[in-house]
Amino acid sequence: MAANMESNAPELDKVAGEAIKVTQDDNGVLVITLDMPGRSANVLNDQLSEPFAALIRRIEEDESVTGVILTSAKRDFLVGADIDGLYEITEPADALRLADEYKAMLRRLETCGKPVVAALNGSALGGGLEMALACHYRITVDSPKLKIGLPEVKLGVLPGGGGTQRLPRLIGIQAALPLLNEGKELRPDKALEKGIIDELASDVDDLLARARKWVAGQIESKAKPAQPWDKKGFKWPGGDSRSPANGQMWAIAPSMLNQRTHGNYPAPLNIMSAVFEGGLVDFDTACKIESRYFAELVVSREAKNMIGTLWYQLNKINRGESRPDGHERTQVKKLGVLGAGMMGAGIAYVSAKVGIQVVLKDVDQEAAERGKAYSENLEDKAIKRGRSTPQKKRELLDRILPTGDANDLEGCDLVIEAVFEDRELKGKVTEETEAVMDPKGVFGSNTSTLPITGLAKRSSRPDQFIGIHFFSPVEKMPLVEIIVGEQTDDETLARAFDYVQQIKKTPIVVNDSRGFYTSRCFGTYVMEGVALLAEGQHPRAIEQAGLKAGMPVGPLALEDEVSLSLGLHVMEQTRKDMEAEGKEYKPHPADAVIRKMVEELDRPGKKAGKGFYEYPENGKKHLWPGLAEHFPLADKQLSQQEMIDRMMFAQANETARCVEEGVVTEVADANIGSIFGWGFAPFHGGTIQYINSIGGTERFVARARELAAAYGERFQPAKLLEDMAAKGENFPAR
Ligand code: NAI
Repeated sequence: MAANMESNAPELDKVAGEAIKVTQDDNGVLVITLDMPGRSANVLNDQLSEPFAALIRRIEEDESVTGVILTSAKRDFLVGADIDGLYEITEPADALRLADEYKAMLRRLETCGKPVVAALNGSALGGGLEMALACHYRITVDSPKLKIGLPEVKLGVLPGGGGTQRLPRLIGIQAALPLLNEGKELRPDKALEKGIIDELASDVDDLLARARKWVAGQIESKAKPAQPWDKKGFKWPGGDSRSPANGQMWAIAPSMLNQRTHGNYPAPLNIMSAVFEGGLVDFDTACKIESRYFAELVVSREAKNMIGTLWYQLNKINRGESRPDGHERTQVKKLGVLGAGMMGAGIAYVSAKVGIQVVLKDVDQEAAERGKAYSENLEDKAIKRGRSTPQKKRELLDRILPTGDANDLEGCDLVIEAVFEDRELKGKVTEETEAVMDPKGVFGSNTSTLPITGLAKRSSRPDQFIGIHFFSPVEKMPLVEIIVGEQTDDETLARAFDYVQQIKKTPIVVNDSRGFYTSRCFGTYVMEGVALLAEGQHPRAIEQAGLKAGMPVGPLALEDEVSLSLGLHVMEQTRKDMEAEGKEYKPHPADAVIRKMVEELDRPGKKAGKGFYEYPENGKKHLWPGLAEHFPLADKQLSQQEMIDRMMFAQANETARCVEEGVVTEVADANIGSIFGWGFAPFHGGTIQYINSIGGTERFVARARELAAAYGERFQPAKLLEDMAAKGENFPAR
């Protein structure tokens, strides 16, 4: 046997085509390397699966082949199906065919009669992990960058290549379900612990050496390679679906799922059904069951919404479509953070974590040290969870210089101020800082409410002044809203954009306006919930409607979190500002409730331990019983759907106004901003996609007019939507 199939078995290489490279060693072991041309990653599509299927047929037939090592020449092993293909499918029969074909191919691989080992040089996700699961053994390089998982659920579908059947048979139903239902991506050590991976390697050379050794051992043992589920007398780890050990779990699983999803996400439900039903039958029948549940999801509205926004539009943002062209990519070297409070401390942490030198400045050394301690605390927690090491912690902390002296800001190429929300103070620190920082550097403000153009008036370089608005808690929230002031130049925007990506967050770009984009639209949700209370709707029904609408928290609980006193403050500030601009402030029906709660009833929110909810020290929070007395129930209680419509239309309509006013210019920014920023129902695909999702602009405008007639002018559809509806236009869905 020759060392290379190209010379000795040209027909095999021909079969493999361009996307797959094949070599064969002296012992007859094939090394199949996935390496799709012209792509940075391997994806499952016809270009890969057709030659792969042909290759498997040859492996079955060619007696010179003694074993197979499957690996990839890309950074990742294989990270899933070609989303374009999935997104375009509208007929369940087409989805069914796709899943059946892929499954049939993997089935042949695992029953080919030769030992097959997956040598995972990089991440194996979705269809990639399904391919590895169809191998008889899995070895992976032990790198923290490498991920193993079945994340399909996050795009509203399920693994249709046998993943819902192989994983439970391999590691047990109870261990598999959370991985399938949450789409968790594991690092190699965790995947080993769970039994998904059989062995770890130190690097790619070690990986291939181990793979060869395993295959050689199999050949030598002369055992016929077979999957556990194909062996006689196969026993499910932890029992199949009938087993009493799983009975209790199955009894409560549907209600637990419903508590989490409120019935809005068909994917986890279908996954659970596929696992349960598949656990009652043989493997091949189980695969057919999986395909049917897969097909139903692929054509679902929810999957289209999630793929459109969380795949296509998110990729657009990550590629930098909102970043001005013609400016070189930059990296921040030395960051100044003004204010070491809740936000400043978090900003310092996420920046130091990616290697940026941070000067953390507060009024004095002591206050700055307190801010730095936040990083220490987070790192201690991370070490406990195995996500950091004492050395990494030390290095991270060494990068943060706490100080009370503005002179330490010298040379900073970016400064972000996060001092109190006070215009005068922000002006003062801007002047003080610009005197010492790098004159070519960018000054960013993390203000949550003050318009950027106004703050930039105190800057000597307003073209280098920009809003960089973080969300709390900074280390957890994935979004940063970049606000372009009237005078902000393109280079400053590009640099702020690069910084946000440098700290591994998602930037959206909006223009200056009161509340910018996120706070303004998020506010409409909370305010609508409070308005419902003012009308005498039952508070529990209001909260329930918010959750059923797909929001992460009910509106009253959310208002408590944000704090009613802050709400009152913003309300008054807005009224003052508008009057100063000669504009009329139109009170929202929620205003009176918030004022009464704060001023009359002394219930300013969660921080004070009392708001719409009570926060008993040793118990769970619950709605304040006093609400019944102060906001008595109306005779007419609205249907849940009516309340949901009000909360959702309020947010979508306000977003459309932001588009109309030019505050938001990209649909992707609006949708991603709403999901990442305030948790707007992901299954609707974001605030703009919601309009598509319920039937388009025409339907939206008609319903908004009904709501306006019943509940007030605030529901009057945005002019932009009326114009679009009249012309039969809709927003792009991806
Ligand atoms: P905070 O009250 O926790 O921290 C403010 C810090 O600024 C304090 O440590 C204070 O000592 C310091 N400070 C005051 N004067 C200073 C000076 N001259 N030089 C340096 N530091 C000084 O406030 P928080 O919550 O961190 O908010 C800061 C900013 O971030 C505000 O503008 C706020 O509106 C904004 N923001 C807050 C969010 C939140 O959820 N808390 C979310 C997004 C933005």
